[in-house]
Amino acid sequence: MLVDQHNRTHDYLRISLTDNCNLRCFYCMPEEDYVFTPAKQLMQATEIEELAKIFVSLGVKKIRLTGGEPLVRKDATAILQALAKLPVALTLTTNGTRLHKFVQVLEDAGVRSINISLDTLLADKFLFITRQNHFNTVKQNIALLLNRGFHVKINVVVMKGLNEDELTDFVEWTKLEPVHIRFIEFMPFTGNRWTNNKVVTWQEMMHTIEKTYAFTALPGKPHDTAKAYQVPGHAGSFAVISTMSAPFCGGCNRMRLTADGKMKNCLFSKEETDLLTALRNGEPVVPLVQQSIWGKAKELGGQFNTDFEHLYANTIQNRSMITIGG
Ligand code: GTP
Ligand code: 5AD
Ligand code: SF4
Repeated sequence: MLVDQHNRTHDYLRISLTDNCNLRCFYCMPEEDYVFTPAKQLMQATEIEELAKIFVSLGVKKIRLTGGEPLVRKDATAILQALAKLPVALTLTTNGTRLHKFVQVLEDAGVRSINISLDTLLADKFLFITRQNHFNTVKQNIALLLNRGFHVKINVVVMKGLNEDELTDFVEWTKLEPVHIRFIEFMPFTGNRWTNNKVVTWQEMMHTIEKTYAFTALPGKPHDTAKAYQVPGHAGSFAVISTMSAPFCGGCNRMRLTADGKMKNCLFSKEETDLLTALRNGEPVVPLVQQSIWGKAKELGGQFNTDFEHLYANTIQNRSMITIGG
């Protein structure tokens, strides 16, 4: 079991398969001419499998594949097939553009729940945010997954002046379709031009939504990132991920492995532990994982708190979101 000094047990591993992506969302990518990590520096499929097995031996019960965009990796199918053999719930966070090519592989790998990023319901705004014209493909792929019976969560990063006017449109979508929308407070990462005045807080979002809808809170689980709600009679639900205004670190059970094989004990951890080099050198990996977890900060990587009015993204020591995977 991986227990930290704050008595939190860690049984959920997020593995980034690549920092490459076929979209260019400005809140995630550091700059226009961002250079993706060369393949040699990334974990190979067999190394991902070996590291995942080590984590499973330490008590991991859920693995989420992230990116960049995990499905742009050429050997994504082989990785899914290898991880499918482990005794874990296997899940995926994706931008949704390539799901039609993977739906059978995902089903065969036992993936039942998929989280898809979609920050707007308007094609023009999608192009503005992602700098690519894939809106219709993503919408079609969401419909495809729903038809095939997947549990689909939609991640919406809410930003002032960008998409806060669409909150009720997203909630309306839950009326007839069993989609689970998660409105996410905008978070600061290296190079994403975060400023505190672009954050729409959980409280502000709820205030907007309650002008149009009556809703009830759904029961949560201890490790949830999201607080969920439902409009009575709607097929789906909506939720808020309130990292900035109301962090949920007390129930944290998460660890991360970056595509270049570094372990992060928190989304905002400064420190990284190089597991890939240890694995390649034949050195023991287990003690490194245990030490990393033991050193985990109580909240938000120890780097900031909810009083973010005077916070500047460049004072936080971290990576860009595209190299962490959320
Ligand atoms: P579930 O396993 O379905 O609960 O997914 P998730 O919400 O943990 O993961 P997803 O990849 O869909 O991420 C949705 C949002 O939650 C993103 O903005 C992530 O950055 C954020 N998120 C995921 N894990 C954590 C975490 O451990 N801490 C914080 N603060 N945010 C997180
Ligand atoms: N703040 C909050 N959420 C973010 N995501 C990407 N960048 C940010 C950010 N700066 C979310 C996307 C994606 C998930 C993995 O992380 O919605 O679905
Ligand atoms: Fe866990 Fe860090 Fe996320 Fe808090 S910010 S929930 S400690 S990963």
